[in-house]
Amino acid sequence: MDRENTQPASNAGALILGIETSCDETAAAVVRDGRKVLSNVIASQIDVHEAFGGVVPEIASRHHLTAINGVVKAALVEAGITVEELDAIAVTKGPGLIGAVLIGLATAKAMAFASDKPLLGVHHIKGHICAALLEHPELAPPFLALVVSGGHTSLVSVRGLAGNPGDMAVLGSTRDDAVGEAYDKVARILGLGYPGGPKVDALAKEGDPGAIHFKRVMLDEGSLDFSFSGLKTGVANYVNSRKQAGLPVCAADVAAGFQEAALDVLSAKTCAAAAMSGYDTLALVGGVAANSALRARMERESQQAGVRLCIPSPVYCTDNAAMVACAGYFQYMAGNADGLSLDAAAALPL
Ligand code: KG4
Ligand code: ZN
Repeated sequence: MDRENTQPASNAGALILGIETSCDETAAAVVRDGRKVLSNVIASQIDVHEAFGGVVPEIASRHHLTAINGVVKAALVEAGITVEELDAIAVTKGPGLIGAVLIGLATAKAMAFASDKPLLGVHHIKGHICAALLEHPELAPPFLALVVSGGHTSLVSVRGLAGNPGDMAVLGSTRDDAVGEAYDKVARILGLGYPGGPKVDALAKEGDPGAIHFKRVMLDEGSLDFSFSGLKTGVANYVNSRKQAGLPVCAADVAAGFQEAALDVLSAKTCAAAAMSGYDTLALVGGVAANSALRARMERESQQAGVRLCIPSPVYCTDNAAMVACAGYFQYMAGNADGLSLDAAAALPL
């Protein structure tokens, strides 16, 4: 590993360009001092993948390739910053779709090489966690993070952000599907389209969360791990059996019942993790943190438990590059820059 110790030139006003391409958003952002977002440009590929009902990796890579230069340029122009004025370039190094991650990484490397700026490889999940810092300047480790996205569902003990070993410890993780994946699959079962999370969120508001009971998987176990594939299958079985019997399916009740089951498990495990860790601060991050019912539930329960809750605005919950620049900032300030041989990784431990 060729990790370079590049101490920052100054302690004030560090300008970091962030680049994110791990899934279906091509994103670039300029952030000052890890908190002040000067620009946050996101080119979404949702329209492209909608026809397929999910992200097609090869198509995602090709679209990143055509979009990335324009997105980076737009982020710099919007921020009123030139490449020369940047202090460092941060980029998602994984986990994610490997072809997609590589486009962002190759772009960041080329820019770092051409401008002789430090390169900062950021773990995508650390990026999501750092999204909570963008609008909560007082938030600092140690704290507990519940990361809920399309690829991950984890409870993380955050002890540091410098990029040092032991900064983060995963207390519990999904053993199968991520909760966002379950949302997307339930949306598909109900014929709501892609991406499913926001559609299930909206439809659930019209349904009765108590009308259909779905199993709360692993709720009673002492473990902080999650499992969402059984819940997804439970929804599929319910809908199929109703259809086979010629009975109507109330999609809003299914959406509300599914969501209630998922939220019961997420909130119970998070409360248990908070009690176990003794942390008094919780960050709720990742794409599913944009969910209105989850936000409301966590706000209510953290208030009751006397835990301070930090949730990013929805635009910083789903994939974006401001979170990557923020995460990169802490690595930069600690002198933890990467060399140009930094590799992309589809799977990467936190
Ligand atoms: O963090 P993210 O943008 O990408 C990953 O790193 O996976 O998360 C995307 C996931 C998708 O599964 C999407 O359906 C879900 O977040 N999502 C939502 C909502 N908005 C996005 N899930 C539930 N309710 C929402 N409002
Ligand atoms: Zn993500």
